[in-house]
Amino acid sequence: MTTLLRAQLFHTPRNPFAEADALEVHEDGAVAFAEGRIRDVGTFSDLRAQHPEADVIDERDCVLLPGLVDTHVHYPQVRIIGAMGLKLLEWLSERTLPEEARLADVAYAREVARAFVRSLLRNGTTTVLVFGAHFYSAQEVLFEEAECTGLRMTSGLVLSDRNLRGELESTPARCYEESAALLERWHGRGRLHYAVTPRFSVSCSEAILEVCGALLREHPDLFFQTHLNESGEEIRVVRELFPWAGDYLETYERFGLVGPNSVFAHDVHVTEGELMRLAKANAGVAHCPSSNAFIGSGLFDMARHVAHGVPFALGTDVGGGTGFSLLKEGLMAYQTQMLRSVKGEGYALSPVHLLYLATQAGANVLNLGEEVGSLAAGKSADFVLLRPPEKSSLAEVLAHSPSAEASLGALFTLAREDCVGEVYLAGEPKLTELHE
Ligand code: GUN
Ligand code: ZN
Repeated sequence: MTTLLRAQLFHTPRNPFAEADALEVHEDGAVAFAEGRIRDVGTFSDLRAQHPEADVIDERDCVLLPGLVDTHVHYPQVRIIGAMGLKLLEWLSERTLPEEARLADVAYAREVARAFVRSLLRNGTTTVLVFGAHFYSAQEVLFEEAECTGLRMTSGLVLSDRNLRGELESTPARCYEESAALLERWHGRGRLHYAVTPRFSVSCSEAILEVCGALLREHPDLFFQTHLNESGEEIRVVRELFPWAGDYLETYERFGLVGPNSVFAHDVHVTEGELMRLAKANAGVAHCPSSNAFIGSGLFDMARHVAHGVPFALGTDVGGGTGFSLLKEGLMAYQTQMLRSVKGEGYALSPVHLLYLATQAGANVLNLGEEVGSLAAGKSADFVLLRPPEKSSLAEVLAHSPSAEASLGALFTLAREDCVGEVYLAGEPKLTELHE
């Protein structure tokens, strides 16, 4: 049975960093879907004529976007969002790692996993690359919770063996065994995939990075994620720990960890050589602007990533980031580039770029660009419906908006969790279910 979802539609079937006219808008639009897949997208009147038998869900007071894609977020950090006053390494040791250690208790981890998945959906995120927990059972619980809701998630056990705190430090052999067992069970199951996930070079011995390389060689379709070039202090520590490495990226390259299935979070302080090698490897970068501001890491050099052709998309990086909203990350990305423009180093972003970065660019970085990211026929029916609350400032701005692009700018600036009216995963509404 086909369903027509009627709303104002926005999506970016083309790349605004490469071509003009990337935005497609249908003021009175509809998306037709059946069996979890998009069949068609267009004006409501055209689609109604083509699908006279279809059920119609009338959401004309909503804006419909493709489900949002978060390319970097930490599941164990939901409860420490907003821990102010510290930069990266102190923020980790004083606020973040003590909380991550609490996930050794699987009942605690279950509660956090539920809150995490619910928070993603309530913010319109339908596809996500998640930094998991340091504990096998806590990681298992996350996969279970994601599977229950139908969230499309790539994630993995976080691997470390030094410079954290005792409870979070494992051994190379245990990291191998636990990762192998988890990926065996979860990789490719429904909408779930596995990512080999060393925390960062600061907390990993060469033996751990070797284990990561072995896992990727044994399972070439696995994903890989870690942190790279986030803060100046972190980079100085990496230089001391890996004196043979010419730069931070080389600490991963040496072990075969940089390729088209890799996503590196942050990359704020990147060298020319690293950009060239990331581009050559077709590795992705997760740009997390609210985190980079909140923990004082720096202003992402988007122009150089674009110039070198390094693929990048948005990540919330909760809990260094300030919440689960990818719309807010779009706004923060815009503001970061405006701040860089003071020195003539900004990239001039439009609302169309922001929509692309929060949807199709993220899907591409996760190698899911054929499956999600736009409203193209054949893709998964993953949508977010935004309904501005009555008499809200957003409702006022939209009612007087001069253009579709201006409306999109207002959505990125003003629409947050309270505006997310519904989220569809493979054609199934999920928020209503969560509230029951
Ligand atoms: N680097 C290593 N671990 C983390 C983390 O949890 N958050 C951020 N922002 N950077 C990291
Ligand atoms: Zn992170």
